Amino acid sequence: MSANAGHGAPQGTPRGRTANWIERRLPVFSTMEHFSQYPTPKNLNYWWNFGSIAGFVLVAMIVTGIVLAMHYTPHVDHAFNSVERIMRDVNYGWLIRYLHANGGAMFFLVVYIHLFRGLYYGSYKAPREIIWWLGIIILLLMMATAFMGYVLPWGQMSFWAAKVITNLFSAIPWVGESITTWLWGGFTVDNPTLNRFFSLHYLLPFVIVGVVVLHIAALHTVKSGNPLGVEAKTPKDTIPFHPYYTVKDLFGLGVFMLVWAFFVFYAPNFMGHPDNYIPADSLATPAHIVPEWYFLPYYAILRAFTADFFMYWPISWLITAKFAGVIAMFGSLLILFLMPWLDTSEVRSSRFRPIYKIFFWVFVIDTIILGYVGANAPDEVAHIALLGLFDFSTGLTWLTIGEITTFWYFFHFIILVPVIGRMERPRPLPHSISEPVLGGGAVGGGAAAQSRPGPMEKA
Ligand code: HEM
Repeated sequence: MSANAGHGAPQGTPRGRTANWIERRLPVFSTMEHFSQYPTPKNLNYWWNFGSIAGFVLVAMIVTGIVLAMHYTPHVDHAFNSVERIMRDVNYGWLIRYLHANGGAMFFLVVYIHLFRGLYYGSYKAPREIIWWLGIIILLLMMATAFMGYVLPWGQMSFWAAKVITNLFSAIPWVGESITTWLWGGFTVDNPTLNRFFSLHYLLPFVIVGVVVLHIAALHTVKSGNPLGVEAKTPKDTIPFHPYYTVKDLFGLGVFMLVWAFFVFYAPNFMGHPDNYIPADSLATPAHIVPEWYFLPYYAILRAFTADFFMYWPISWLITAKFAGVIAMFGSLLILFLMPWLDTSEVRSSRFRPIYKIFFWVFVIDTIILGYVGANAPDEVAHIALLGLFDFSTGLTWLTIGEITTFWYFFHFIILVPVIGRMERPRPLPHSISEPVLGGGAVGGGAAAQSRPGPMEKA
């Protein structure tokens, strides 16, 4: 008699004997069925493709990274040369390295689009707060991973980026210097620093995988949102994930891979800095130390705080300009955690929020300008030039523009988001995903209908 006697076959789709045997011990088949049948809102647009693209890039980064690590040497005397050897002597080493280096930038592009999709469609609102918070944790881990990865080739920008960023911790009152020494593993950025950065750069992507699993588990618990922002209520509102969204995701992935391949094969160093092909030299500081493009807005926020502003007692000794910049830089990320509370609107999707929608796009432009500011020398006068067609001087330094745009960044979250949420009169919501607004009918039963009306509606 089999050891399984007495155990009934698992419910659901009929399977063969072997599959049933496995299923009773490890629910692989029911899990696969769960993913394939996952009821997905039928109205998802292409902005909903970026989560799966991000998942693909994460796996691709781990695979290419593992191959690179087979040929890389984490030692200050050998790191630079080992990367050159990968580029010249290792079979297809150039391809693996360019995929990985450009893949990092593409990963940020995809995740930023994914995040802005969330801000536009109010994806952080109940019941998706935990998905959102896990997303921000992923972003923070990605930033730490990318920063440490950039140090590994041990070029000039690697070394000086490591120096500038680790030095920021020294701005923390009392304990800052000790923290920096502890991070370095010595009294400057040196071999122990490179070694631990390599170790952590290898480790963190797997931590990210773990958090992504939680991100998806939370998503599948509360189910996906959609561009209308009204919850799926009846089976008519959803379709099974497979084949509809597997095919749509694959199509999006194909388009994305064309863009990635363009950079890898035609402009592999476009997003990199030429100074990183000069070996690290602790005695030669580059004229401009600039991070990769995906860190530029934060770099602008960091540098927007000048000594003059914070020179007055009683905060001058506690919050130096440098420390204020560090607080603002981390604050610009951490403030995202508060979005579920800051956004007071009853309505999720910007599609029905005429005023928020405008300020959303102003915010997008603000972050792009911050990126420009981060790429330029603060004391230079900002010029707006286009392909030699015109060259217009703003009369303002990049620092001043950085101060204005940093102010707007926080003003957006702290003032505009809560105030617009209360004041704005949203357009009528559709009754459900399947039933759009007929004859301009009012809210019929979407998420907003179940919640209390806003002050404008009460009036
Ligand atoms: C490695 C990085 C990430 C991966 C692999 C990932 C993966 C996914 C996937 C596959 C989905 C479902 C499809 C979709 O909505 O696009 C999703 C949904 C979501 N993600 Fe991410 N994500 C990542 C980072 C982030 C970040 C940084 C945020 C925000 C800070 C975020 C917030 C969300 C939210 C709010 C949803 C639910 C959207 C909805 O159902 O309406 N994710 N994520």
